[in-house]
Amino acid sequence: MKKLFALCLLPLCLLLCACEADAPQQEEAQAELLIGFSQLGSESSWRIGNTLSIQKAAQEHGINLMYDNALQKQENQIAQLRSFIAYQVDLIVFSPIVEDGWDNVLTEARHAGIPVILMDRFINTADDSLYTAYIGADFYMEGVRAADYLLEKAGQMSKETINIVEISGTEDATPTLHRYQGFHDKVDRDPRFHTLETISGDFLRSKGKECMEYLLDTYGDEIDVLYSHNDGMTLGAIDVIQSYGLVPGKDIIIITVDGEQAAIDLLKEGKINCVVECTPLLGDLVMNMAEKLKAGESIPRTTHPQEGVFTEFDDLSTLPPRGY
Ligand code: AHR
Repeated sequence: MKKLFALCLLPLCLLLCACEADAPQQEEAQAELLIGFSQLGSESSWRIGNTLSIQKAAQEHGINLMYDNALQKQENQIAQLRSFIAYQVDLIVFSPIVEDGWDNVLTEARHAGIPVILMDRFINTADDSLYTAYIGADFYMEGVRAADYLLEKAGQMSKETINIVEISGTEDATPTLHRYQGFHDKVDRDPRFHTLETISGDFLRSKGKECMEYLLDTYGDEIDVLYSHNDGMTLGAIDVIQSYGLVPGKDIIIITVDGEQAAIDLLKEGKINCVVECTPLLGDLVMNMAEKLKAGESIPRTTHPQEGVFTEFDDLSTLPPRGY
């Protein structure tokens, strides 16, 4: 199949060679690189920004991309990896929807001699040699940054008890597990903080709304802080908070993760208090690593993009548009 694909491209390659007589050999080498990329779904603006970033970078690097979207189902994603193996792609890149259950298909990739890069999310495996590298956020540190903001804010609140509700992401997904752990490792050591409930909103705006309705119905004005694991769910929750006649950012302190434009805009309006950055713009990092692998160079086992935090205490007037 791969050969057939290459044959189909041949006339185009010849044409390009004729037009650019001294096009560098490197470009030809890159054009031979075929990546099978399985995205886990389209659940958030973050995810859509991430897909676009990978597609754009592949185009800019002259790398062929076979793209598939698993529509939030692990079985789809496993089937997609199997079809990449059958097609004999040069490299598999995928964003695992959950951490467990990948050993069999990754063993098949290894038998086929195809390296695998985990992008954005991690896996739980007893055999670390089943993947070549992880490129994505340090989700634990994102949780820590959320807690650091809250500790600073609590200093101004002069309350003996601060009640937190938490809307977490997809169960068994890396960002959910690590954002929870990083946050609680800090906050739970401080006797002022009490987590009323942690509930999964699956990274979906619609579920963020449902979760917030449930939390307000259950705990009402006991809630001091909402810690939400992504902007989509936060936006849904804010709609509900306002419809209950409460003022987000004042009656309830709002901490969110991602940093999409809509959340930054609400931070500037005072309806969100803290945005922990998680960038979806991983395309260049992934393509650079893919080129290195193709050239036989070694690549780091773990690469985290640079990420920060934006809070109500910062001057945001010069913050450039987010692009997602
Ligand atoms: O894995 C990254 C997370 O997945 C983002 O925080 C979230 O928005 C996305 O759906």
